[in-house]
Amino acid sequence: MKFFIDTANLAQIREAYEMGVLDGVTTNPSLMAKEGIKGVENQHRHYIDICQLVQSDVSAEVIATTYDEMIAEGEALAALDPHIVVKVPCIADGIRAIKYFSSKGIRTNCTLVFSVGQALLAAKAGATYVSPFVGRLDDISEDGIALIAHIVKVYRTYNFSTQVLAASIRHTAHIIQCLDAGADVATCPLSAIKGLLNHPLTDAGLQKFLADYHKVNG
Ligand code: E4P
Repeated sequence: MKFFIDTANLAQIREAYEMGVLDGVTTNPSLMAKEGIKGVENQHRHYIDICQLVQSDVSAEVIATTYDEMIAEGEALAALDPHIVVKVPCIADGIRAIKYFSSKGIRTNCTLVFSVGQALLAAKAGATYVSPFVGRLDDISEDGIALIAHIVKVYRTYNFSTQVLAASIRHTAHIIQCLDAGADVATCPLSAIKGLLNHPLTDAGLQKFLADYHKVNG
């Protein structure tokens, strides 16, 4: 399973990249706004900075919601850097835009996916990635991980090449559940990635090794 980081914060992206475990980055308009990045020119510069840092897939989301505007915005985003993946919402014009981008060799991430039916349309249109939102489904008492497993099963049964990118990951348990569900990618906050490291026996064991070393070596 590939690991993407779900942020537009350059320091956090750098930290995950320097751990050596990062396969890509996802952003969305809320994450860009959180970093205070205003205006198309600054946003484009920021996407380029992220691409230059990680040299791997970086999802950049369109703001447009109509077909013609999505095409213009997506083409401009894709032209910024070869690592850009154009993120498109799962609405009718978005599915049509994904079909267009796919025919032009522009890679896409179909976002805001909450059902198997939506994932089917994204795959048929040729999306590179589909992003089911695990945490937001859990928030309304549905089962986000069950949706990941269902989409994985359907895609494998019908040999779709679209990769299942589990999004809206909130904590480390979600990451492990995504592994079990067969997700191709999980996009996670830095805290969830770092949380995978935590184990009290590791901390206690390290303290004991160091104490024993220093007893003999001073
Ligand atoms: C990333 O692709 C999604 O936009 C993101 O994971 C949504 O996460 P949230 O539900 O925590 O906002």
